[in-house]
Amino acid sequence: MSRPSAVGLAAGTEPLPDFPQLRQCPYQPPPGYRDLREAEGPVVRARLYDGRPTWVVLGHAVARELLIDPRLSSDWSRPDFPSPSPRRKAIQKATILVGMDPPEHSAYRRKLISAFSVRRTRELSESIHRRAGELVDTMLEQGPPAEILSGLALPLSSHTICGILGVPYEDHGYFEEQSALLVSPQVTEDDATGALMNLRTYLTGLVERKEKESEPGDGLLDTLVHRDLAEGSLSRDDVIRLGIILLMAGHETTASMITLSTFTLLQNPRQLAAFRADPAGAGLAVEELLRYLSIGDVAMRIAAEDITVGDVAIRAGDSVMLSTAEINRDAEVFDDADDLDLARGARNHFAFGYGVHQCIGQNLARAEMESALTLLFSRIPGLRLAVPAEQVEIKPAQSGVQGIYELPVAW
Ligand code: HEM
Repeated sequence: MSRPSAVGLAAGTEPLPDFPQLRQCPYQPPPGYRDLREAEGPVVRARLYDGRPTWVVLGHAVARELLIDPRLSSDWSRPDFPSPSPRRKAIQKATILVGMDPPEHSAYRRKLISAFSVRRTRELSESIHRRAGELVDTMLEQGPPAEILSGLALPLSSHTICGILGVPYEDHGYFEEQSALLVSPQVTEDDATGALMNLRTYLTGLVERKEKESEPGDGLLDTLVHRDLAEGSLSRDDVIRLGIILLMAGHETTASMITLSTFTLLQNPRQLAAFRADPAGAGLAVEELLRYLSIGDVAMRIAAEDITVGDVAIRAGDSVMLSTAEINRDAEVFDDADDLDLARGARNHFAFGYGVHQCIGQNLARAEMESALTLLFSRIPGLRLAVPAEQVEIKPAQSGVQGIYELPVAW
């Protein structure tokens, strides 16, 4: 395993490793994280893209402790709030909720929660399953070959979040393109800001149109406009910024998980055979894929006060980054943590985060993954990669959502 590259050498100081680092395999955490954890323990020092030092949390027990510690802040409006990349910095400026602390955060979250409840997701699961089936049927009619992201994962996740929010699905090409620009490795901070401005302009137009409607639709944005904006508990800017984060988080992450899960199962034939043989175990399988792949690999925080964890003294103002991917491979919590074991039943992973910011769309994501993967692998028994696995391009570490750009398949 290679050591992480040393950067920022200053006279008399130890060089610090980069954070984040690039995955060498789409479904494995960067090997440098394991080296660091083994050499230095569950909390290590590293350096961000802008040269700033950061703590990096790599162990499950420490992460559990820190993620519910109110002294660790998610407040992106703090001028020195850290970021793993220039692109993430731009996103941090344009969204709300995930970048806030209680009690402000709780007030916003309360307004959204019922649209993503277990009950609501259960009501939606039939239409999610139907839509996934239609997409797989279209793949069968038109292929082989086919491409999983554009043929199944993205249309399913975009269609679902559009329905929940009340965003017209015919606009999906536009918002998918702008969101993709944000995670593209070629994009500068200016380009990312431009893409976000476009998303903002799009959401502004949509919110203004909804304000003029005398018969509100039944999407979450309609409720926010006609209930919260109308009664003054949310501003127009709040609704727009909530719309941006929900639309982006709602399609990008789940699409990435479905695509990467497909690749990972195709690369693990024994697990794939077990998946096909036990449709009732699909829920457990999805949970294990979430743990194993951990695509939301960086949680960003800043210490609002001094915090001591174990023998590490984190000072107020210090950057703290958590690598969910490495945390979810902690051997003290998960037996044979580096093995993909679809029957494992591990629910105590942090693929959806932990604490007050735990993913609001997790029930939805699980339902979409379960439908997409079961239908794909049951209706296309001969599914295989259409290119050598080494040619599948890995997203950069800094993108925020790990995964692959596309997955050509045949059968
Ligand atoms: C497999 C797919 C998904 C993964 C892996 C994922 C992962 C995560 C993670 C790790 C967090 C916590 C971030 C932190 O602590 O800083 C989070 C928060 C969030 N996620 Fe997801 N997510 C997924 C799907 C979705 C979907 C479908 C939505 C739909 C709207 C969504 C909306 C959000 C929102 C709004 C937050 C912020 C919650 C808050 O701050 O209170 N996510 N997600």
